[in-house]
Amino acid sequence: MKAVRMHEFGDPQVLTYEDAPRPEPMDEELLVRVHAAGVNPLDRKIRQGGPLPMIPDEPFPLILGTDVSGVVETVGEAITDFAPGDAVFGWSGFPSSGSYAEYTATAAAQLAPKPTSLTHIEAAGVPGVARTAWQALFEAAELTDGQRVLIHGAAGGVGHMAVQLAKWTDAYVIGTASGYNEGFLRYLGVDEFVNYRTQRFESVGTDIDVVLDTVGGETQDRSFEVLKENGILVSTIHEPSEERTADAGVRGQMVPPRDPSLLSDIAELIDAGDVRPTISTQRPLVEASEAHRENEGSHARGKAVLRVLS
Ligand SMILES: NC(=O)c1ccc[n+]([C@@H]2O[C@H](COP(=O)([O-])OP(=O)(O)OC[C@H]3O[C@@H](n4cnc5c(N)ncnc54)[C@H](OP(=O)(O)O)[C@@H]3O)[C@@H](O)[C@H]2O)c1
Repeated sequence: MKAVRMHEFGDPQVLTYEDAPRPEPMDEELLVRVHAAGVNPLDRKIRQGGPLPMIPDEPFPLILGTDVSGVVETVGEAITDFAPGDAVFGWSGFPSSGSYAEYTATAAAQLAPKPTSLTHIEAAGVPGVARTAWQALFEAAELTDGQRVLIHGAAGGVGHMAVQLAKWTDAYVIGTASGYNEGFLRYLGVDEFVNYRTQRFESVGTDIDVVLDTVGGETQDRSFEVLKENGILVSTIHEPSEERTADAGVRGQMVPPRDPSLLSDIAELIDAGDVRPTISTQRPLVEASEAHRENEGSHARGKAVLRVLS
């Protein structure tokens, strides 16, 4: 098969479009013909070689890519709930079998039927960011209607899903982003917009119930001050400092680890018209290094996707 492989860590040019062996599914796995692969900041961080905990213990060459949408080609002997020809979306078999390839072999539990209202290109932009937004807002923060939520990086992959999920639950949503994203975020439904380049987000007050932090660093540090007593900050970047949360009288935690069982609920919400991914760029698989180059600055709007079968 054709795949984009890397033989070393480094700049986007280490992503090489070349021939690779087609993976063989094990008994609990499916072989999926990949139609589209989502591009995530995680892919970029792994390509760069670190920090260490996210680097798989897998020999080179490595095929990147976790998010996938495609069609089941063959099923392992123990599989009863999927059949060849089913359209599916979810997570690839990365690190042993990433989705920047024509085929991925992946555990059936990591997939669900693709939302029927989405193309493969759109569906490939969903799994990682939708589950992250969902688990941060609903599992960790237990966001409910009427609560005030501040979403940092609201125009990004995770952020644009989080805005829609928070609005779906009737929360009051404040989003931070660069000024050029205001129209996009108003369209998605934010009640208030903060241009973080010209305005300090502390202007939103000190009665925020939930902060979703997809930026980290100084942004996270300043966010404890806007939370109401016992409010919660959930981060996708780094563990909030116990000392800072205790001082501010608030709670803080990392987003929980991936729960693949959510894929079906997310597909249902999408098909009901409650949330929808925005695909900002799509490139053919052969242009994976360009897609990574575009993603270097952490200023993505919505999702970037690689077209594998067009
Ligand atoms: N731990 C986990 O399980 C997990 C899961 C998912 C994601 N993540 C991590 O979470 C981060 C975000 O992921 P993503 O997919 O949403 O990334 P993304 O699609 O690249 O979006 C990042 C967004 O951040 C915005 N931004 C940059 N600096 C900002 C600032 N100072 N204040 C407010 N917004 C700012 C950018 O918007 P502008 O263009 O408007 O500046 C951009 O839209 C990544 O580092 C990713 O690796 C972790």
